[in-house]
Amino acid sequence: MLSSDAGKRVSQVLIAASDASLSQHVVGLLADSGHVVEAASDTAGFLALLENPATDVVFVQVDAEDPNGLELVLRARRASTVTSIVAITAEGSVDSVVEAVKRGAGHCLPRPVNASALALVLRQACEKAQATRHASALARCERSGAQGEFGRIVASHPLMQQLLAKAHQAAQSRATVLIQGETGTGKELIAAAIHQNSKRSSGPFVRLNCAALSESLLESELFGHERGAFTGAVSRRKGRFEQAHHGTLFLDEVSEIPLSVQVKLLRFLQEREFERVGGDEPLQVDVRVVAATNRDLKSMLEKQTFREDLYYRLNVVRLEVPPLRARPSDVPLLANHFLHRYAAENEKKIDGLTNEARQALAAYPWPGNVRELQNIIEQAVVLAGSASVGVDDLAIAGELRESEPVRLMIPGVTLAELERFAIQRTLDAVGGSPSKAAVILGISRRTIQYRMREWGIGSREKLEDEECEADAEPN
Ligand SMILES: Nc1ncnc2c1ncn2[C@@H]1O[C@H](COP(=O)(O)OP(=O)(O)OP(=O)(O)O)[C@@H](O)[C@H]1O
Ligand SMILES: [Mg+2]
Repeated sequence: MLSSDAGKRVSQVLIAASDASLSQHVVGLLADSGHVVEAASDTAGFLALLENPATDVVFVQVDAEDPNGLELVLRARRASTVTSIVAITAEGSVDSVVEAVKRGAGHCLPRPVNASALALVLRQACEKAQATRHASALARCERSGAQGEFGRIVASHPLMQQLLAKAHQAAQSRATVLIQGETGTGKELIAAAIHQNSKRSSGPFVRLNCAALSESLLESELFGHERGAFTGAVSRRKGRFEQAHHGTLFLDEVSEIPLSVQVKLLRFLQEREFERVGGDEPLQVDVRVVAATNRDLKSMLEKQTFREDLYYRLNVVRLEVPPLRARPSDVPLLANHFLHRYAAENEKKIDGLTNEARQALAAYPWPGNVRELQNIIEQAVVLAGSASVGVDDLAIAGELRESEPVRLMIPGVTLAELERFAIQRTLDAVGGSPSKAAVILGISRRTIQYRMREWGIGSREKLEDEECEADAEPN
C-alpha cells in the first residue's frame, strides 16, 4: 500500500477497469495513499464520476481486444483538459499504448501493476494535473483582468464547485451578493475571493462586523459623521462606505443591523447615496456590497426584524455555503491542507493522519464547520508526538463517542458517500464483521470487503478470517 508523503496535496483519483480484479488491486494499493479514490463499476458510472471537476487522475484499463477502454480515454480527455489520464495496458502491448496516447492518455502503467510503478506514475500524473489546473486558473485570471483567485479555498465537493463557479461569475459583476451559511463555513473567505476576482480588486476590501457595535456607533461607523454630530464627535470622520470607495464593503452578520440603520442601508443600495451622521450633504461612492449571515433571514422577515425590501436588495446573487457535514469529501482534503500548513508553521515533520484518525474525522458531524476542523488540526499538529497524527491527538476523539449520528443532507450527498456511511455504521454495529453487515445491508459480503479495502478500514486479520470462513460457503 502507498503511504502519504508530507507536503502532498490530496488528489481525486478515478479508476475504470473492465477487469474487476485489476480495479480492486489498484484500489487496494491506493488505500493508504491519502487520496480520494473512486472506482467505476461500469461505463455509466465512469461518465457520471468524470463530471467531478476536481478529478486529477483517471486510470483506465486499455486492452487491444476491448475497444471500450480507448473510448473511455477519449471521453475522459473531452471531459477535462486538466485531468491526467493513465492507461493501464497489458505488458508489451505497444499498439494499445500508441492508441491510448493518440486519444489523450499522458501516462502508461503496464500490468501487472506493482506498488512502486503505481506510486511513481501517480505522483507524476498528480503533479501534471495540478500544474495544468494552476496554469488554467492563472490564464482565467489574466483573461478576466483579476489579480486574485479562488485558489485559497480548498474544496472538491460538487456542491462547493458549483458555489465557487457561481461566486466567480458574480465577482465579474457589480451585483450585491448575500452569502448565507453556518458559522465557520468560509463566508468571509468567499467574500474576499469575490473582491479579489472583481475589477475592483485594486481598490480596498473593507469589512464591518455589524453585530459588534451598538445602534448609534454602527450608523456612524458605516456612514461617517460630521464634527459635533454627537458628544465625542470632535472631528469629521469618514465611514466604511467612504473608505471602501472603488472597492468592496463586506457587511458581516448583516442580520444584526437594527431596523433604523437598515433603512439607511436600503437607501444606499437603491440610490447609491447617503449622508454622514449630523450632515445634510448627500454623498455618492462607488462601492460594491457583499453581505453575510449565519441566520435565516427569511424567518426574520416574518418576524419583521429584517426589512423585506432590504432583503431583496441584498439578495441579488445569493450564495448558500453548505455546512461541512454536507460535503464529506472536503473533510480529508481540508484536513491535509491544514496539516501541512500547521506542520510548516510549527516546523514539525508530520507525514499525515493515521487511518483511524481519518475515519474519526469522517464520522464527526462538524458543528463548527471548517473553522473547527482547522482548530482541531492545528492543535493536533502542535501536540503530536510522532510523525503521524493519530486519533488520540484529535480533540474530537472523546466527543465523537457521545456524538449524535452524522447528519447527512439530502440533497447534498453523493450515493457513494451514502453507501460509505451505511456500510461503516453497520460494521460498527456488528463488531466489524463483513458477513453480518452483508446480511443486514442485503448486499454481498465481497462487496463489503472490497469497500473496506478501498477505504482502508477494518483489521487485516478480520478480513482474512472472514475470507477463510467464507471460502467454505458459496457466494
Ligand atoms: N474551503 C476552505 N478552504 C480553506 N480554508 C477555509 C475554507 N473554508 C473556511 N476556511 C477557513 O476557516 C476559517 C473560518 O472561515 P470564515 O471566517 O470565512 O468563516 P465564516 O463563514 O465567515 O464564519 P462566521 O460565520 O463564524 O463568521 C478561516 O480561517 C478560513 O480561512
Ligand atoms: Mg465570518
